[in-house]
Formats: sequence, C-alpha cells, structure tokens
Amino acid sequence: MKLRAVKGTNDRLPADQPRWQRVIDAASRVLGRAGVQQITPPVFEFAEVFERTVGESADLVVQKEMYTFDDRGGRRLTLRPEFTAGVLRAFVEHGMHTWPSPVKLWSHGPAFRAENVQRGRYRQFHQVNLEIVGTAVPLADAEAIALFVDVLRALGLRGVRVALGSVGDPPDRAAYNAYLRAALEPRAGELSETSRERLRLNPMRVLDAKDAGDQALVAPLKRPLDFLNADARAHFDAVAASLDAWGVPYDVDPGIVRGLDYYRRTAFEIHAEGIGAQSALGGGGRYDGLVAELGGPDVPGIGWAFGIERVLDALAQAEIGMPEPERPLLFLVPMDDEAVSQAAGLARQLRAHARVEHAYVRRAAGKGLRDADRSGARYAGLLGGRERADGVIQLKDLASGSERRMPLRDLPDWAAAAMSAATAASSGPPAIAADAG
Ligand code: HAM
Repeated sequence: MKLRAVKGTNDRLPADQPRWQRVIDAASRVLGRAGVQQITPPVFEFAEVFERTVGESADLVVQKEMYTFDDRGGRRLTLRPEFTAGVLRAFVEHGMHTWPSPVKLWSHGPAFRAENVQRGRYRQFHQVNLEIVGTAVPLADAEAIALFVDVLRALGLRGVRVALGSVGDPPDRAAYNAYLRAALEPRAGELSETSRERLRLNPMRVLDAKDAGDQALVAPLKRPLDFLNADARAHFDAVAASLDAWGVPYDVDPGIVRGLDYYRRTAFEIHAEGIGAQSALGGGGRYDGLVAELGGPDVPGIGWAFGIERVLDALAQAEIGMPEPERPLLFLVPMDDEAVSQAAGLARQLRAHARVEHAYVRRAAGKGLRDADRSGARYAGLLGGRERADGVIQLKDLASGSERRMPLRDLPDWAAAAMSAATAASSGPPAIAADAG
C-alpha cells in the first residue's frame, strides 16, 4: 500500500509557511496590543474535559466526532476538538481567577474532529482562539467581536460579515426549545433525520439545518432573539451599541445558534464570501457557567475561534497578496575541493547577518550559477583557487548580471548592510556597492 496522509489531514508545505505565519503574526500583534496573553494548552486532555463542556447535543457528541482513545495506562483521552475546554481547564488548574480580571488568553494550533471531509472541513484543522474570562459586562463581548474583526482587517480581509445574535439565558433557551418542539413535533415526519434528532436533543439546532425542506419548515417560526428576558435583551443591545460606537459593522441575526451547547446570551459568527459551503470563518459567544462546570469558580467568559485554513481560503479568494518565502541573500559556489569547506565555513559565519546557502560539492562556475539561481538567491559568490590566493570572493548579482570582486573581510559588513537595506525598503537589497577597498 502506498503511504499517504490520512484523509482530512493536510501537509503544510514550505511554500505555505509564510502565509500561515502571517495569520499567526497578525493575531499575535492585534491581540497582544489588547493585553491578551498567549496560552498553549496540550493537544490532548482527559476525555471528561470535553464531555463536561461541549454538551450532549453538540455534533461533536451526537455524531461521535471526537477522537477519543484509551492510552496504555487505561486513561480515556481526547484529541482536542476545540480550545475552549482546555483553556478553561488550565484557567481552573492554575488558579487564574486570582489574576487581574478579566484574564484574556489566546492560543493557536491544531484541533481534531472526525467530520465529513469537504472544502473547509478537515479532520485536523487549525484554530486561532481567544477567551476573555472573568467578566460578564457586554463591553467584553463587544471587545471580543471587535478584536476578531481587527485580526481579519490586519490581514487585509474586507467584506466580512459579523452575524450577531443571542441564545439567551438557560430559561430563555428552555422556553424557546419548548416553543420549537410544540411547533415542529406535529410535523416531525417531514424533517430530515438530522433535524429529527436535533428536535429531540436541542430543538434550537434545527435552525442550523442544511436541508431545504427543514429550512422551509422553520422559516416562519420565531427566533431565539424573540425569547430573550429583559436582562439578556439589554445585554444584547449594549453589545450592539458598543459595536456601533466603534464602527464595527455587523448584522443582527436573530436565528444564530451554534454547534456547541455551552453558549449563553451572545452568539456570533463571522462569514466571508466565496469560500464554499463552509463560509463561517469563525464564531463564538458567551459561556457563563462553563468554568463552574469544570469544577472552578463560577466566573463568566466569552470567546471565539477561527479556522486558519478558512481564513487563508478567504484571503486567497479575495486575491490578497501573501508574502513570498524569504530568499537567500547569497549562494556560495565552491569551484574546487579546497573551496568546499571554505564555503561552508563562510556560510556559517555570514548567517549571523543573512540567509546564506552553499553547494556541498565542487561545482563548475556555470553549474554553480544555475544552482544559485534555483535557490532563489540574489547573489552568487564564487570561490576558487584565484579568489583564495587574493583573499576575495567573486560576487555576481543574479538579477542584473553585474559582477565584482570583494575582499572576504568586507563580506560580513556587506551582508549586514544588504539585509538592513532590504528590511528598510522591503524591496530587496541594493545593488553591489562600489569597492570597499
Ligand atoms: P466552532 O464554531 O466549533 O467554535 O469552530 C470555530 C471555527 O473553527 C469554525 O468557524 C471554522 O472556521 C473552524 N473549524 C471548525 N471545525 C472545522 C473543521 N472540521 N475543519 C476546518 N475548520 C473548522 C469553537 O470551536 C469554539 N471553541 C469557539 C469559542 C471559543 N467559543 C468560545 N470561545
């Protein structure tokens, strides 16, 4: 059997890395300035951490989407399907409720769900995740949503749509679910199997049905937003007012329900055009009560996550330019056997300043220049007997073809200057300067 990557997993190849890094960098910069600290929870946890939090009606549970296994010690473990549960487990374990409140934490890394694979839906995917724990004020909800939009804007993404809703407090949810049951049970036979199951476990989730027939059935019905108690309604209005004040565009979506059960009040999603059926870049909401569920103090919280793959897909659809992989400044070509170790030693020395590569065997000048070209280097540095005798290197600008001999002792300064000029101009290092003799 030919070995291949498991279905629903992807290799991230060298050419993909700069894009990926740019997403992480944008999140780190934008969130860092808002006082969000980074936390890296483990990739797997005791299964209970997720079983206690995601809720019995979540797809993760109903459709058995969690990768749960017994290890050799007989512990039941789960590869994280999301970050929230693990971050909150860490919050409790490290007594973070004693830290200055609110505690704002962000993370990034892989998550795992045994889902039906399609565009934007993988079994190993990656999230950037934010949690703001310790405050119930609507300002925190608005800040979380605004930060999400800020990260996407920092990446150059425009035209994203924030869909803002509220699932209310538990009694509101119960009342709404009772309403839906009363409305839908008589017509349960017309619902798809998935929606029938949802009607049984958590009727609200029928609103999320993909099936057109189901959608037609629920279209005339009321939405969770119609069932909010006065406090939850005031909370929702306050979140919206902050977003208005900050110029963060959003649409009220009275029917937002999320695939995880732990949400209370604020629930939101961010969508982008043109990324296929799975158009949600990310989503989140408030989850008051969840920390207590994990055995911690009863502190409220709100958060979100976005899928890095989906954000990259949206950036590609919007044809937003991505950074080129960094190229070597210099590729050293040893033209005789003695120069091979000289080139390797020189490269080691110059790497204090710049990316420098070299051939590992003796190369004729022509072949060596081809190697240099293929490496993407801006300059080739030829080293042979003549150069050694004179203590110089033959430098060739691979774009312009211009050449010059440079004393080896000047090379580190030249490399440093080329790099700082490149960073300053972001347009490549300058042409070879006049002889620094
Ligand atoms: P979620 O809606 O389950 O929320 O996932 C958030 C995002 O992760 C999705 O919108 C999507 O971009 C990405 N995602 C989810 N599943 C997959 C998949 N199979 N393949 C590719 N991308 C996927 C949460 O995970 C919550 N923990 C968010 C949160 C944080 N709520 C409060 N704090």
